Amino acid sequence: MDNLRQLIKKKTPVWFMRQAGRYLPEYRSIRKKEKNFIDLCFNSSLAAEISLQPIRRFNFDFIILFSDILVIPHALGQKVEFKESIGPILNKIKAANEFSLVDLQVCLEKLEPIMETIKILTKEKKNKQLIGFCGGPFTVLTYMFEGGTSKNHNLIRKKIKQEREDFKKLINLVTDFSIMYLIKQIRSGVDIIKVFESWAGLLDKEDYNEFVIEPNERIKTAIKTSFPKIPIIFFPRQSSRNIYSFMKRVKPDVLSLDKEVSAEVLNVAKKNEIILQGNLDPLILINGGKKLEDEVKKIMLQFSKNDHIFNLSHGIMPITPLDNVQKTLDTIKSLNETR
Ligand code: CP3
Repeated sequence: MDNLRQLIKKKTPVWFMRQAGRYLPEYRSIRKKEKNFIDLCFNSSLAAEISLQPIRRFNFDFIILFSDILVIPHALGQKVEFKESIGPILNKIKAANEFSLVDLQVCLEKLEPIMETIKILTKEKKNKQLIGFCGGPFTVLTYMFEGGTSKNHNLIRKKIKQEREDFKKLINLVTDFSIMYLIKQIRSGVDIIKVFESWAGLLDKEDYNEFVIEPNERIKTAIKTSFPKIPIIFFPRQSSRNIYSFMKRVKPDVLSLDKEVSAEVLNVAKKNEIILQGNLDPLILINGGKKLEDEVKKIMLQFSKNDHIFNLSHGIMPITPLDNVQKTLDTIKSLNETR
């Protein structure tokens, strides 16, 4: 935690979710040659190169490993593909017994190329901290059940309602495996980890406690037991009022925020020494202009009494103009110099 806290004391550092991605021409040019996205995630030298692209162009304060949250279902033996302009497509699963024969240690070995990427990056990262990650177990399971990005999430909802015990077995398995995977990332050299629970907002209070808070808490405890100094960023997107129980029980080192930020969240975070990360709307970043500049200033002011890492409220979109990214970074820099 010390490195991160020291950095934040000096200035508001900044990175963007999906900073390595299709808005960068240099990413698109690699992607043209490697059509299979999963293969790209497992190509250690290309994945390391892609992770560094946004650093070279924009000098972001953190490097995030280039990979995807869906390498977990892939490693567990589920078929995962990425189709252009559609997104991920998976062979839908139905029951826990589909995984009864898997040996998690053997599955973990399939993720070895990602450890190789991390090892390359630890040599190249200079003074930057490297962020490793996994998906939140519930979010990963939405893709495993729905077979991709779903509009209504009917299949996972039905599963929870009708076969709750079987669902619990699966979420436990994905949580166990995510912990093994994160520990391996830390041993390979990542400095910080982030858990992307992008679909947390689907659940009502009771299910949220059981399927968002409990697994995230288990990840937090397991990592802190072995690596007390590694900061963990949690991103329980669209949690609305459940965010308070999340903060109280998971006790994130860093909480990544999406849309609205209330005075209450700012206060609770400050009292509990939780660093806040966020929360520029990617659409405002696309549109640019004075509205973008005003919004960046507003966010910097809003978080000025908290420990703050500047980021987006969700991933940067492919059509984002590069100039708007540079302008955002320039605005943050000049505000940092005058604070
Ligand atoms: O942030 C980074 O730069 C690191 C790499 C990273 C990717 N995906 C690369 C990626 C990270 C951290 C992720 C996380 C991820 N992946 C999440 C959680 C965050 C979120 O956005 O909510 C989720 C839900 C996924 C699953 C996923 N991967 C989807 C739904 C899609 C398709 C949508 C899209 O944006 O295309 C992906 C593909 C993906 N993951 C791309 C990248 C750069 C684009 C793929 C391409 O090049 O065609």
